[in-house]
Amino acid sequence: MKCRACNTPIEPFMSFGRMPLANGFLTAEQIPTEEFYNLAPAVCPQCSLFQIMEQPMPDRMFHSQYPYYTSNSMAMQKHFEAFANKVKERDPLFVIELGCNDGTMLRHFKDIGHLGIEPAANVAKVAIERGCNVIQGFFDHKFAQSIIGSDVNAVVAANVICHVADLPDLAAGVRAVLKDDGLFIFEEPYLPAMLNRNSFDQVYDEHVFMFSASSVRNAFSRYGLYLMDCEPQWAHGGSMRYTLGKQRDRMTDRAVDRLLLEAVLHQPGTYQQFKQNVERAKQQLRSTIIGLTKISQKRVVGYGATSKSTTVLNYCELTPDDIEYISDTTPIKQGKLSPGVHIPVKPYSEFQNNPPDVALLFAWNHREEIMAKETGFAGKWLNYVPGVSLT
Ligand code: TYD
Repeated sequence: MKCRACNTPIEPFMSFGRMPLANGFLTAEQIPTEEFYNLAPAVCPQCSLFQIMEQPMPDRMFHSQYPYYTSNSMAMQKHFEAFANKVKERDPLFVIELGCNDGTMLRHFKDIGHLGIEPAANVAKVAIERGCNVIQGFFDHKFAQSIIGSDVNAVVAANVICHVADLPDLAAGVRAVLKDDGLFIFEEPYLPAMLNRNSFDQVYDEHVFMFSASSVRNAFSRYGLYLMDCEPQWAHGGSMRYTLGKQRDRMTDRAVDRLLLEAVLHQPGTYQQFKQNVERAKQQLRSTIIGLTKISQKRVVGYGATSKSTTVLNYCELTPDDIEYISDTTPIKQGKLSPGVHIPVKPYSEFQNNPPDVALLFAWNHREEIMAKETGFAGKWLNYVPGVSLT
């Protein structure tokens, strides 16, 4: 296979094995037709872009039953309001948000020209009900032709660009809609944060890429979008917000420093180390859970039916024998089974009314918000990011 950005041949450095769709929560009747693919990451030796080798078809992942609603977390609501305010400091005339989900960020642009583009019909509908202008569909170069002519001086996205496998086409579309002085500002989970914290559950079908400043600069400059700035963000356990423009050589000192800091990403040993860390985490998590349930007879329940949990549960071969159920606040996930290993997803009220001995924290990226809410929980928390621990 070839690198999606620069066409250099790439090879996977490890495999997580056969994997279902990360957000493919399903009913018992749907089990016989459940889809699987092989989850194996690779790093391009030329442009250092971290990517997965195989990705299911986008319309299998982003559809009318897409279970991810950005507004589910209060902290993320505040984060996206701050993101929007930062963009508005530049007095944009017209803002396009790619993958606007339920309008959590887009609604803050309602007082200026704005357009959201969102493929998942159910979440797009919520954004429209919130008074946002939204077109349901996938953004690509062809789509971009239909909106050229608006005074678009900002294209923004959050946790979306890493979902789009055809990066050259996406970049061509963004370049086509943006005015010459316009900016493309997007934030995504940050590869070095994943490597440092061993948050291997960030690797799943929707995350076709895990970006770094180096790979963003290398990949997008081929298509006429040049890295200007990057700002670290706390979201998703460590993200990076990138600002790109159409003119070369406008990089901030901060971006230059960041590129220098990322030298380790160009060494193959970095990924061999990650592979070993992931294998060790699997052994530790499995033995801890088996010790808790089979030896100490404790009840272990998952907290947050995240997309990330699909990688953990399937890679670590954890089943309903090990994890009684997963508690989640998202109505569309409740009453369903988790992808692949089929652990029941139950409403949060179940966790409140019948608390377990141990809660396995899948939604670790919302740790602060959750700990503030769960001061009354008398059980223990089982964590696997940054390492396996019982607290
Ligand atoms: P998220 O962290 O965005 O992860 P991913 O991108 O891996 O899907 O999803 C958080 C999930 O956790 C979501 O389904 C809602 C759920 N959740 C709770 O059940 N309780 C909470 O207090 C929070 C913050 C989230």
